[in-house]
Amino acid sequence: MNGMKKPFVFVTRKIPDAAIKLLRDNNFLVKVYSKDLPIPKDLLLKNIVNADAVISLLTEKFDPPVIDSLNRCKIIANYAVGYNNIDVKYAAQKNIIVTNTPDVLTDSTADLAIALLLACARRINEAENFTRAGLYKAWKPDLLLGIELKNKYFGILGAGRIGTAAAVRAKAFGMKILYFSDMKNEYLEKNLGAQKLSLSSVLKKSDFISVHLPLTGKTFHLLNKERLALLKSSAVLINTSRGEVIDETELIKVLKQKRIYAAGLDVYENEPGINKELFKIRNAVLLPHIGSATVEARTEMALLAAKNVAAVLSGKKALTPVIL
Ligand code: GLV
Ligand code: GLV
Repeated sequence: MNGMKKPFVFVTRKIPDAAIKLLRDNNFLVKVYSKDLPIPKDLLLKNIVNADAVISLLTEKFDPPVIDSLNRCKIIANYAVGYNNIDVKYAAQKNIIVTNTPDVLTDSTADLAIALLLACARRINEAENFTRAGLYKAWKPDLLLGIELKNKYFGILGAGRIGTAAAVRAKAFGMKILYFSDMKNEYLEKNLGAQKLSLSSVLKKSDFISVHLPLTGKTFHLLNKERLALLKSSAVLINTSRGEVIDETELIKVLKQKRIYAAGLDVYENEPGINKELFKIRNAVLLPHIGSATVEARTEMALLAAKNVAAVLSGKKALTPVIL
C-alpha cells in the first residue's frame, strides 16, 4: 500500500491558488496552513515530519533542528528569492534540495526600489500628509523641495538580477550608474556605461545607494557605522534586500543627525519588529516588506515553487535550485 501513497506536500502559508491547483493536478496530497500569521513552530514541526516536500516562506526558519525533523522530505521550495531563512548547507548534507524563486520577482522588486527612491527624492509621504492635513493653501516657490535624479550617481550594492533591473530603471531617469560587486557585470558596463568601484568608493560617490545583496555571513552589517559615515550628506539610501545588511541602530543615528538626506526601507533588521525610533524619523520612508508584492510576481513565485516540487517529486531536476 505504501507505494501507492500520494506524496504529501506541506505549504506553510496560503499562497496563490494556481500553485495549489498545480500540485493537486500532479496527484499530490496538499495541506496548506491557512491562518493569516506565520505558522507556530510546534505546528510546523508536526506538519513537516512526514512531508515529502515543503513550500516555505521567509518567515519560517529551517535551522538544523528543524531540518532534522524532516523524515522524508526531498525538497524545501522557498517562496522567496532570498533563502537566508534556510540552512542550505545542512539541508544539502541531508540530501534535501532547496529552491528559491529568482527572476519572477526581479521587476517587481526593482520597481519598488525606484518607488522608494522617488518617494525619498520628492518627499512624497511628507507631501501627501501635508495635502491630507489640509495644509495646502497656495502654490509656493519653496514648498517641499526635493532633489532631481538626472545626472546623479546611482550606486548599487550587489549587481545581480534585481540590482541590474534597478540600474536599468535609474538609467532611464538620466542617472549615472556605479556598482559594487564581486563580479564584473558586462551588461551593466556595456549597456548602461556603469562603473565598477570598491564598496567605499560607491558609498562616497553615490547620490542614491540601493542595496541588492543577499544576506550572508559576509554581508551582515556590511553597512556599519564606519561605512555609513562615508555617505554624502545629500545621499539617499534604499534597502529592498534584507534588513540585516545595514546596522539599523547606526542608520537611525545617521538619520536623526541628518547626516544623510533620507532612507527608503522595505526591510528591517528584526523583522517584523521595527525599531520604534524609525517611526519618529521624518526623512525615512518605511514599507512592510512588499518588494515582490504584485499580483504577477506573487502568482509566478507560487507557480515556480510548485513546479520545483513537482519536478523533484517526480525524480526530475529542480528548476531553480539554490547553488551553494
Ligand atoms: C523576499 O524578500 C524574497 O526574498 O523573495
Ligand atoms: C536576486 O534575485 C538578485 O539577483 O538580485
